[in-house]
Amino acid sequence: MPMFPPGATVRRRMIAPESLERAVELLRHGGVVALPTETVYGLSANAEDELAVRRVFAIKGRPATHPLIVHIPGVEHLNTWAREVPEAARKLAEAFWPGPLTLVLPRTARATDAVTGGQDTVALRVPNHPVALAVLQKLGGGLAAPSANRFGKVSPTTAEHVREDLGGDVDLVLDGGPCTVGVESTIVDLSSNEPAILRPGGLAAEDVERVLGRKVPVRTSSKVRVSGSLESHYAPRAGVVLTEPVQAVARVQELRGQGLRVGVLGPASLALPPDVPRFDVPDEPAGAARVLYARLREADTQGHDVLVACLPAESGLGIAVRDRLSRAAAPRG
Ligand code: TXA
Ligand code: MG
Repeated sequence: MPMFPPGATVRRRMIAPESLERAVELLRHGGVVALPTETVYGLSANAEDELAVRRVFAIKGRPATHPLIVHIPGVEHLNTWAREVPEAARKLAEAFWPGPLTLVLPRTARATDAVTGGQDTVALRVPNHPVALAVLQKLGGGLAAPSANRFGKVSPTTAEHVREDLGGDVDLVLDGGPCTVGVESTIVDLSSNEPAILRPGGLAAEDVERVLGRKVPVRTSSKVRVSGSLESHYAPRAGVVLTEPVQAVARVQELRGQGLRVGVLGPASLALPPDVPRFDVPDEPAGAARVLYARLREADTQGHDVLVACLPAESGLGIAVRDRLSRAAAPRG
């Protein structure tokens, strides 16, 4: 069961059937469509249309060697994209799909070099959003879709974020309301005998380990090109300073003492000086994950020099939130 902070409402907009038809029509003819998933909005193209996939890379400004996730309509499609589906993959897919889990597996020829960056593996996931699933089912194929933001920037969790970032560069933006998970999927590499988490995300590592009945190490600095694992990523314009909540006020005072305009990303329970703007990020990890990117964006529009960000507990989705905040705080290249 997902947990939501008190007072939170989950809205899912209904999409007119004509828009779904139009999206599928565009995707069949080389179009690029931004669509909602439960994690973040994706910038999607037919995974088997090389030109369309290249347009996705061009719109994002992402190096063509960074592979994309292929979104599929259901677990029954796994075999057409992955040439080996080990027992562990089958178990995880059955337990968590549709959901915020991506599996890296040896690819079939259906996963082209354009999508995989020439690697012998493919990343696959079934998203848990009615709009994404409806499009996938009507299309009957796979959609290559990275997050619908420019390379290195904060991922979008509303259709409005996508329009702000990508504007007229996409053929259509489907609005499915705010994303309910709010951080990208957890990527699990099952292409060798040693399962590993390549990116902590919207599915807790504890859940992966429970189903596999073993520890699964996090290996974010693998040889594989996982762009979300570049040190400086998910970066807002303002500088980001990380803190444990108990030290937040002291950090704010110190930074203001240096003449900096400071905002705080932290829970409502944190007592701050009255003139310090707060962007409410609950301390409960799943709630924090859900609003993190939207708050980073909001804070960024207000011209702060520094955002002091409170770290959530290091368990469950707190691991993904800490990971994204650390990358937002990393030195910029
Ligand atoms: O939640 C998500 O995963 C979102 C939504 C739209 O589904 N998508 C997303 O895509 O985060 P993107 O492209 O921003 O991140 C995909 C990650 C990249 O870091 C990429 O390098 C990694 O998946 N990836 C893709 N194929 C891979 C492969 N064959 N081996 C290892 N990593 C791979
Ligand atoms: Mg991304």
